[in-house]
Amino acid sequence: MANRITTRCDIMLFGAMGDLAQRKLFPAFYQLERAGLLADGSRILAIARRELDTAAVRKHLMERLEKYVKPEEFERPVAETFLRRVEYQILDFHDEEGFGVLNSWRTEYDNQLIVYLASPPSMYGVIARNLSSASCCTENTRVVVEKPIGHDLESSRVINDELGAVYSESQLFRIDHYLGKETVQNLIALRFANNLFASQWDQNHISHVEITVAESVGIEGRWGYFDKAGQIRDMIQNHMLQLLCLIAMDPPADLSADSIRDEKVKVLKALRSITPDMMDTCVVRGQYAAGASTGKPVPGYLEEEGANNRSETETFVALKVEIDNWRWSGVPFYIRTGKRLPEKLSQIIIHFKPAPHYIFDPDQRHLANNKLIIRLQPDEGMSLKILTKDQGLHKGMRLRQGPLELTFSETFEAERIPDAYERLLWEVMKGNQYLFVRRDEVEHAWRWVDRIIQNWNDGGDPPKRYASGTWGPVASIAMITRDGRSWYEDA
Ligand code: BG6
Repeated sequence: MANRITTRCDIMLFGAMGDLAQRKLFPAFYQLERAGLLADGSRILAIARRELDTAAVRKHLMERLEKYVKPEEFERPVAETFLRRVEYQILDFHDEEGFGVLNSWRTEYDNQLIVYLASPPSMYGVIARNLSSASCCTENTRVVVEKPIGHDLESSRVINDELGAVYSESQLFRIDHYLGKETVQNLIALRFANNLFASQWDQNHISHVEITVAESVGIEGRWGYFDKAGQIRDMIQNHMLQLLCLIAMDPPADLSADSIRDEKVKVLKALRSITPDMMDTCVVRGQYAAGASTGKPVPGYLEEEGANNRSETETFVALKVEIDNWRWSGVPFYIRTGKRLPEKLSQIIIHFKPAPHYIFDPDQRHLANNKLIIRLQPDEGMSLKILTKDQGLHKGMRLRQGPLELTFSETFEAERIPDAYERLLWEVMKGNQYLFVRRDEVEHAWRWVDRIIQNWNDGGDPPKRYASGTWGPVASIAMITRDGRSWYEDA
């Protein structure tokens, strides 16, 4: 990543025994250790309710690291060094007096304090208040919170108010882990370091944009959470709208957090609200039925463990989104995301308009649009589809579409691409907020998404079923076909 930092950090990790911490956060810290990026003297206090002690937690974490770190990246001596930084503290998050012990830990050294709330968001307020009454916060404390921030605009405001009562906005690091992905950050480089694209990036040159974030997995035993959220709250309100903002925003004046976030907010404000009469043409929701995933039979959503078999929660959403501003007027953004689709694939396709006057074989007119395909995962890279003359004497001026290809792993012999959480933790330690979401972004995104949910609640059609292992309900294909277009499948 970058040069090591010398700031010694103390990290209080709430919810340390939960799935997120074990699966993502500890492996990410381990990788920072492996890369030599944790300053000597940095410590982690793992905080949870479970009756355990430090030795037992370290042993347990060693097993988790062995499980979640790729075998070729697992180095036992590094893991041992890392785990020596970890101490364990039993704590009931409602026990105000119990927080005193955290203050004693914090004041042992004069390290930069980072509080990471990997607990359910309903606990954020009480933890923040108890930390404050135990004098655990200074104005330098950084606080990291996970999504979801609420389940609608109103509840997100409550959470933001609770956090805001104790911390200033400049102390809050709201995570959307998509912003930590190398390829997502690369959108900023692609757009604002290449004048070639800057001059083409608007309604004069682009006909439409597609964003697909597909997953082959189902809900992975998370019924309790997912059934209340659904794909619109789980993926659209955050990751998908963030991707859309990075593609659609105007150039920021600089790379500072607020310059970037100001531009993203302008996009969110310009999203055309989806009214009830637009639901049939602009919104498709689906729910996976039984089918096959990566060659194996899998159950439908309603047959998942713990399922309520009358649930109408969506596991797939496709939307046609319009942005009402000068740059994007008349350029639809087709976005779709779903579980149990044929493969794990996140990609953005920019479809350019054809040249103003066409002089080639009329039969080949369908080839005429350039496309920029940005592959976020897997096989990170990009490909620009351009037209050339087909080679050979007998081909005349027949056209051929071919890629200008950039595959990061091959072209740059890229070193290992860090996981999003490694990048985000590293940025928190450095105090950079540009990869984190500001309060107004969260709230504008909710305001827009709430309208769609409201339309569903006011008597919209139930989700359309799609077989696991397919690209979602046929209605999502019809949605784009009606406009004379199709989803780009890089077959
Ligand atoms: C999470 C969602 O935020 O992102 C999950 O809660 C989803 O449902 C995950 O599976 C996808 O992230 P990634 O990095 O695997 O694309």
